[in-house]
Amino acid sequence: MSNEGSFESEAGSFAEALSAWLGKRLAAAFPDCPDAAAAGRTVASARRGFGDYQCSGAMQLSRPLHLPPRKVAEAALAGAELPPFVEKAEIAGAGFINFTIRDAALAERAAAAAANGALAGLPRPGAGKTVIVDYSSPNVAKSMHIGHIRSTVIGGSLVEIFRALGYHVVGDNHIGDWGTQFGIIIKGWREFVDRDAIARDPVPELERIYKESYARAKADPAWMEACRLETVKLQQGDPENRALWQDFIRMSRHTFDEIYERLGISFETTRGESWYQPQLAAMVERLEKAGLAHESRGAVVVDLRDFDPAAAEQSRKAVESALAKGDAESAAREDGKWICIVRKEDGGFNYNTTDLATMETRAKEYDPAKIVIVTDDRQIPHFQQLFAISAKLGLAPASTELVHVAFGTITDENGHPFSTRKGGMPKLKELLDEAASRALAVVREKNPDLPEAEAAALAEKIGIGAVKYSDLAMDPITTIKFSWDAVLSLQGNSGPYLQYAHARIRSLLARYAEAFPGEDWRAALPSVADPLERSLARRILAFGDTVAAAGAKCRPNLLADFLFALAQDYSAFYQALPVLKAEDPAVRAGRARLCDAVSQVLRRGLALLGIQAPDRM
Ligand code: ARG
Repeated sequence: MSNEGSFESEAGSFAEALSAWLGKRLAAAFPDCPDAAAAGRTVASARRGFGDYQCSGAMQLSRPLHLPPRKVAEAALAGAELPPFVEKAEIAGAGFINFTIRDAALAERAAAAAANGALAGLPRPGAGKTVIVDYSSPNVAKSMHIGHIRSTVIGGSLVEIFRALGYHVVGDNHIGDWGTQFGIIIKGWREFVDRDAIARDPVPELERIYKESYARAKADPAWMEACRLETVKLQQGDPENRALWQDFIRMSRHTFDEIYERLGISFETTRGESWYQPQLAAMVERLEKAGLAHESRGAVVVDLRDFDPAAAEQSRKAVESALAKGDAESAAREDGKWICIVRKEDGGFNYNTTDLATMETRAKEYDPAKIVIVTDDRQIPHFQQLFAISAKLGLAPASTELVHVAFGTITDENGHPFSTRKGGMPKLKELLDEAASRALAVVREKNPDLPEAEAAALAEKIGIGAVKYSDLAMDPITTIKFSWDAVLSLQGNSGPYLQYAHARIRSLLARYAEAFPGEDWRAALPSVADPLERSLARRILAFGDTVAAAGAKCRPNLLADFLFALAQDYSAFYQALPVLKAEDPAVRAGRARLCDAVSQVLRRGLALLGIQAPDRM
C-alpha cells in the first residue's frame, strides 16, 4: 500500500504512538518473527472511510508466517487494551488494521498544534545547533536577474524553516566582489564612464562598462594588458583602484538592498569573496603540504582522482579511449571533471580557493551542524569538488553536514536559455513591479473603497507572494520555463490563493464576533465530528512533520504542497458545512475554532515560505 498523500510521518504523532503500540503487539504475538515489530508501522489513512490511521503490516507478515493476513491482524488485536486515544481498531479488507481516534483526543491535539501561531506543534531538531545558509550571493557590478531570485527566495525560505525548527541560523550573502573582472571595469571606467548614467542607475552602467571593456580587451591585446595591470594594482592595494572598487561594491549593494527590502530578506552577515583573500596563499600551501595539490602546467591543482583509486582507474581508461579516437575534447572534459585549480598559471587564486577558505572560516567560527549553499545546478561539480577536498583536508569536521541545494535554471518559454540579444531575462525589479501592478487591479476590483496607499501595500504583498510561491511550489532542482502568467498567477496553486484562504477565514471569524458577541469560540475545542472536519484536523497534525521534512531535505516545496492541500481540505469543509449558519451554538463554536486553527497553520506556513498573510484582502 502506498503512503502517498499521507503527510504525517512517525515523529511525535498518533502515527508514531500507534506504530510503537502495534509493533509491540505483533512482536508479542509472533515472538519468532524478526520482522514483526517493524510491521506495526501505521500511517495516516490516505482515503476516507478507512479510519484515521492504517497499518498494512499484516499483509507483509503473511508470507513469512504462512498465515492469511486477517489471521495475523486478529492475533495482533486479540484481547488488546487499546491506547487511551483510540476509539476503535478494525480489521478491514484483505487484512488492514484501521484505527479511529477519539474525538476529544483528535480535537485537543489539533488545537495544541495550532497554538502559539502554530509554532507549538513544530519539532525542534535544531535546538542548540547552528546552520549557515549561503544564499542569494549575487555579483557586484551585475544586475540581479530572475535567475537570482531562485537562490534568494529558496534560501530565504530555508532560513525561516530552520529558525522555526530551533536552529541558530546564520544567513550569509557571499557576494562576488573579487576577481579579474574588476580590472576590466576599472580600465573601462577610466576611459568611458557616463557619470549621468551612474547617477541615475549605477548597476546597468557598470554592466555596460564591463561588457564594452571586455569586448575591447578581446580585440586589442594592449587593452587586455592594461586591464590586467589594473587588477594587479587593485590586488596590491593601490589606493585609487581600491577606492573605485569599493564604490562599485557600495553602488551594487545599494541596488541589491532595495530588492531585499521588497522581498523581506535580511542577512546576518554579508561576507563577500574579497573577505577571504588574505587566507588564500596559506590555503594553497596547506593543500600542497598535505600532498593534495601539485603543480601542473604552471598552475597548482588538486586532482580528485588521487583520492579514489577506483575512480582514477576508470577515468584514466576514459581519457585513453577518447584520445585513441582522436577526441581530445572529451579527454579534456574528463580531466576537467577531476581537476580543481586552486592557483592559476598567473599566480592568482580563484573561486575554488576562495570557497575552501570560506569553508574553513565558517567551520572554525560557527561550529555549524550544517552548511547549506544555494546556487544553480551548473555549480554541482564545483561543490562536489569542494566538499571532497574539504573532507580530505579536514576543513570542516565530519559531523558538519555539507549541503549544496542546486536549483534548475530558468529558461525562456520555449525552454531555451534567455538570449541577451532579445532583451535577455526579465530584470527582477521589472518582474516585481509587474506582479504588484497586476495584483493592484484585482485588489481595486474586490475592494473599491480601500484607500490608495492601503491598496498599494496590499497589492505589493500579493504580488510578491505570487512571485515567491511560483518558485517555492516547485522542487528546487526542476528547470523553470519562465512564463509571466505562471509567475503572476493569482489563482489555483498560487501564493495569493493561499493568502485569500487565510484572509477569508480571518474575516469569517470577525463576522462571527459581530454576529454572536456573547459567544467565545476560543473556549471550544475544534469540531471533528464530520469526516471533512477530521481530515482538516489530521492535516493540521501533520504540519510539524512537514516542516521538519522540508528542512531536512531543503525542499520548501514540501511545505507548499502541504499548504495547498490544507487550503483545499478547508474549501471542501467550508462548502459542505455551515459555520456561522450552524444552528447549534456548540457546533458553531467548534467549527470556528477549527477554522482558526487552519488559519494559524496557513499563516505560519506562508511565513516559513517568506510570504505575508494579510488579515484582509
Ligand atoms: N556569486 C556566485 C554566483 O553568482 C554564487 C556564490 C555561492 N556561494 C559560494 N560560497 N560559492 O554564481
